[in-house]
Amino acid sequence: MKDKISKSGIEQLRKECLSEIESVTTSQEELEKIRIKYFGRKGKFKQMFEVLKEIPLNEKKIYGELLNSVVAELKLKLEGKLKELSVKKVKEKNELSILELTLPGMKFSIGRVHPLQKVYDEIIDVFLRLGFDIKYGPEIEFEDYNFTMLNIPYDHPARDMQDTLYLDLPVTKNGKLLLRTHTSPVQIRVLLSEKPPIKSIMPGRVYRHENLDATHLFNFHQVEGLVVDKGIRLSDLKGVLTYFVKSIFGQDIKCRFRQSYFPFTEPSLEMDICCLVCKGEGCGVCKNSGYVEVLGCGMVHPQVLYNVGLGYEEYTGFAFGLGVERIAMLKYRIDDIRLFYENDIRFINMF
Ligand code: DAH
Repeated sequence: MKDKISKSGIEQLRKECLSEIESVTTSQEELEKIRIKYFGRKGKFKQMFEVLKEIPLNEKKIYGELLNSVVAELKLKLEGKLKELSVKKVKEKNELSILELTLPGMKFSIGRVHPLQKVYDEIIDVFLRLGFDIKYGPEIEFEDYNFTMLNIPYDHPARDMQDTLYLDLPVTKNGKLLLRTHTSPVQIRVLLSEKPPIKSIMPGRVYRHENLDATHLFNFHQVEGLVVDKGIRLSDLKGVLTYFVKSIFGQDIKCRFRQSYFPFTEPSLEMDICCLVCKGEGCGVCKNSGYVEVLGCGMVHPQVLYNVGLGYEEYTGFAFGLGVERIAMLKYRIDDIRLFYENDIRFINMF
């Protein structure tokens, strides 16, 4: 019996089992076969334990302890290998899915320029091409600049609390502080700070005390224009604005000037373009007139030039003001101004 069990025999079996465990690289089934081969009911170690029963007690103790520690060591190795294999399997699976070349590509959504910004940039671009420069003014404005110096009288309805958002702050030497209701006060700021020739556009946000609906917002955007020099005439205004409208709406667009009234221009005009919906036939959008209004304009009122200390016999000029949202609505045929501010991605993605 004794030769059936020996330290070298146990050591040899240990080495054999270890090298078999180590040699497994992929299959968990292979590992299971090894487990059965050595530790199963008829496994090699089981057989050794059987032998143990038949040897003297003093030897049984020595070989028993040795066998137990070897078995414990090998089972630990076996478990470790099993874990290693399952981690490897998950890793390979992941690598495989990354390398799955037949899968459709991942879609990255990139940002877009907001339609309003697009139109804003386009408008500014047209005037830059014509040699205008850009000037900015503050959104919190003096009452005098927003109204008085623009020749808007004290009893004008625009000055009413109903239309204008006044700030609850002490009155300044230039009147109350308010949120500018239009970009026209920037004309005053430019005229006060520069000598002609002046050829500027003044884009920016404006505020009105309005109830929200499909065509009104309490804040929106305007682009103001001002040209002042010696010998500026109404025909200059017409030329510049016709070029502008054709650049934005297309060369074939029909347009017209209509007499109007603004306190800061004389004469005052409004510019219309042929209705893009009905092509001039008359429809609900143009109220059957065939035309829709795009902007207000006129020759700078001599009183305005006088208010800023310019000789109105020496200088003349023209001015205009347009609503960016309005131009965008006409260009893209959008019937609700609120869409620009809701930021619904489905709407923005249309442009
Ligand atoms: N400020 C005017 C408005 O908000 C628009 C306007 C009309 C501006 C005629 C001008 C102009 O400079 O000449 O309704």
